[in-house]
Amino acid sequence: MSVGMSSAPLDIIAPDEASMVACGAQLAAACEPGLVVFLQGELGMGKTTLSRGFMLALGHSGAVKSPTYTLVEPYRLAELQVYHFDLYRLGDPLELEFMGIRDYFTEESICLVEWPQRGTGVLPPADLVINIEREGLGRRLTLRAATALGSTVVTRMRASPPTA
Ligand SMILES: Nc1ncnc2c1ncn2[C@@H]1O[C@H](COP(=O)(O)OP(=O)(O)O)[C@@H](O)[C@H]1O
Ligand SMILES: [Mg+2]
Repeated sequence: MSVGMSSAPLDIIAPDEASMVACGAQLAAACEPGLVVFLQGELGMGKTTLSRGFMLALGHSGAVKSPTYTLVEPYRLAELQVYHFDLYRLGDPLELEFMGIRDYFTEESICLVEWPQRGTGVLPPADLVINIEREGLGRRLTLRAATALGSTVVTRMRASPPTA
């Protein structure tokens, strides 16, 4: 990683579901077209909840569920194209080639990816990796930038703590 991309990790405590939704909204406010976010953490850690907060903040009004069986759910939101992936049930990373993965990861689109490690070798690299783990009854989010774009987003998140 070159100098300038290396912002320190940002830890955020989300004590309950509502604050997880608020974190998603905060991420939406900080993000840029082209951003690729990996959402890491065990089942039930709140990856989909964070994604829901993200979509709601961008004007989505329906449900947001993990696209466990379809692998990807597209959201056309305001000026943004967002793709929400859940690769939990991906058998082989090569399936991503067959679904034309490169068409989703463009300079205009934003990709949120649950279970990115299932797509190792085929999935494009992340700009931002968010690890979620248990913290008491709530969750701790650790945001790590992997590119200059990711670093920009982390810097914005640091400057605007969640309100919930
Ligand atoms: N920050 C939080 N604190 C406590 N519970 C949470 C938090 N975020 C989400 N949850 C709860 O965790 C459960 C699983 O959330 P979900 O988003 O489906 O997890 P994942 O997509 O990581 O499997 C839900 O019941 C949700 O309400
Ligand atoms: Mg999920």
